[in-house]
Amino acid sequence: MFLNESMNSSQPKNQRVNLVTEVPGPKSRELRAREDRHLAPGLQGFALMAGIVVDSASGSAVTDIDGNTHLDLIGGIGVNGLGHSHPRIVKAIQDQVAKASVGSFTSAPRVELLDRISSNRPSEKVHRTQLYSSGAEAVESALRLAKCATGKTEFVSFWGGFHGKTMGALSLMGSDFKDKFGPFVPGSRISRYPHPYHCPKGMTADSFATACAEELRKNLKSDSKSDIAAIIIEPMQGTAGNVIPSDQFLPAIRSIATEVGALLIVDEMITGFGRTGKYWGMQHTGVEPDIVTLGKQFGGGFPISALISTDEITAAKPWSNPSGSSSSYGGNPLAAASANESLKIIEDEKLVENSRVVGAYFLKKILPMVERYSFVGEARGRGLFLAIEMVKDKSTKEPLTKAATNKIFMECMKRGLLTMSYASSFRIQPAMTIDEATVDHAVAVLYEAFDAVEKEKIWQL
Ligand SMILES: Cc1ncc(COP(=O)(O)O)c(C=O)c1O
Repeated sequence: MFLNESMNSSQPKNQRVNLVTEVPGPKSRELRAREDRHLAPGLQGFALMAGIVVDSASGSAVTDIDGNTHLDLIGGIGVNGLGHSHPRIVKAIQDQVAKASVGSFTSAPRVELLDRISSNRPSEKVHRTQLYSSGAEAVESALRLAKCATGKTEFVSFWGGFHGKTMGALSLMGSDFKDKFGPFVPGSRISRYPHPYHCPKGMTADSFATACAEELRKNLKSDSKSDIAAIIIEPMQGTAGNVIPSDQFLPAIRSIATEVGALLIVDEMITGFGRTGKYWGMQHTGVEPDIVTLGKQFGGGFPISALISTDEITAAKPWSNPSGSSSSYGGNPLAAASANESLKIIEDEKLVENSRVVGAYFLKKILPMVERYSFVGEARGRGLFLAIEMVKDKSTKEPLTKAATNKIFMECMKRGLLTMSYASSFRIQPAMTIDEATVDHAVAVLYEAFDAVEKEKIWQL
């Protein structure tokens, strides 16, 4: 029996692709051309490459204006946790917008939301919440809070990490998102993150994690001028390719933060609320955070983010002064109503459990790809946080070229599968409401697309 047959989800099940025109169809092409007359460049790459115009969406299916129904393995890059247009979110937003939608006065949904966050908090001490509207905004606030609470000025982060595109967050990222935006905020130190697939020869995921943590410890302790306010870390890195480090890494980083008198900021923007098969990503290893940042699927599709921390830390001034940590949209009644309903749905529909069980099922289906395809180096996952590593050569692990991955993306697209296969670390994070039958349909299309590119020796592009 499929797990979802016993699940109380109000989202549709057994969804499948249905194409009635080529992709993109004529209506999509016409509207995209019209949009391109005024749209600034720089939108998410997959949306530009896909070329479809969305008409409606439900669960894990997206229907374009030409009438083609696609299956969605992108899941809003973690935003679409509840599936598209969850009927209870639709109702919660409709009801609330008719009553009151803006402003920072206390509202009943916000009171309920704060209770609900607190009752699922990742550690006993961390319960005070401030609300924002984007992930980067919550991260920036966490950085300001850490400075206020410690009186220190510097930060440590990790190569491959992603925390947003504002200047403070960008300063802490080791990736090409930073190109040409310097100079960055002084006092930003970036350290190694132990990607198990790329661990040096002769090392295991565990020994690589220990080595990376030791390197950081040594660097900080040998620098008498270090003045670290906080270490910020994703428990598992999303943007770097849904990377799952050894379970020893996060606890080791916790210890280092404590040793140098720094706070630990755990960025759960992608990993929170069940995505990895536990409510919080950090619960796989059980660390005590000082500040947690959250967003994405938290809001059920509505833009809302937050930080949570302790009584003592959030009392730090000037962050805690009236208007010191607020923002225009933070915690407005409409956002609060959506997030509150979203957390209720995650509980009622047992979506953390669904993510764990259906995620394991999904992983089992894609693991054979490593044997079957010359260009698949690894398939990995925890819950519905999955990835396929696509390489030119399995022994050197050199990634597939952009030309090759773009071709794979288009092969999936033309078969009605929305994916992030345009990158060599191909990330998969469908809605947490997805059921095993829908996974079967999506994976069958994926195999079809991969069979086609294997025949064409895609790794030679
Ligand atoms: C871990 C993490 N932190 C922060 C952010 C920034 O969130 P936003 O795009 O809402 O600013 C992201 C976005 O992908 C993220 O993955």
